Amino acid sequence: MNKITIALPKGRLADKVLELIQKCGIDMPDVLDERKLIAYDKTGDYKFLFVKPVDVPTYVERGTADIGISGKDTILEEGKDIYELLDLKIGKCKLCIAGKSSKQLNNTHSLKIATKYPNITRKYFSSKQIIPDIIELKGSVELAPITDLSDVILDIVESGTTLKSNGLKVLEDVADISARLIANKVSFKTKYDIISPLLKSLESLTETL
Ligand code: PRP
Repeated sequence: MNKITIALPKGRLADKVLELIQKCGIDMPDVLDERKLIAYDKTGDYKFLFVKPVDVPTYVERGTADIGISGKDTILEEGKDIYELLDLKIGKCKLCIAGKSSKQLNNTHSLKIATKYPNITRKYFSSKQIIPDIIELKGSVELAPITDLSDVILDIVESGTTLKSNGLKVLEDVADISARLIANKVSFKTKYDIISPLLKSLESLTETL
């Protein structure tokens, strides 16, 4: 019987997250089959679900996973009823408004903004008393302002390479992003004896980052 189920994000954060898990003293299988969506540590105490990053908070909120690792961007966008336990200080990047030039932001009456984050966008602009026309895209958001689908974008900027390659620049910073440890609210109480030592290990590992 597994003691705890942990939802981990597939994709760009995956390697850094697995490294952290190993450093906590959890022995993962030597070779992970990339197509396999469930894995167990060598003791069988820990069960890992490999989840599309955007879905991690859903698995945790519903209790299918007791804890999980999710980007702050996804946590803000999804607004799930979960506990955020720790900033893991990996996957650091920024949510930004970007576009060809700051002039693009002048037209506040019919500002067209392309994004994968409609909820964050709505909230950010409502604090400025602006109701933008939000164009929701699933990826390659940088294409929108250079094809005039939108005036600007709200998106993740990590190295800035994608913006630069497409003649775009950061116009406003919206939020600092990094990976967070999250927990199901019930599991946090019922499995506190397992979550707490893991949290402590992660805290001391991230202290130095
Ligand atoms: C993300 C983000 C930007 C890019 C930023 O996209 O949406 O497009 O990375 O990274 P950079 O500043 O280091 O260039 P991702 O690669 O996740 O793909 P997507 O556009 O298909 O969502």
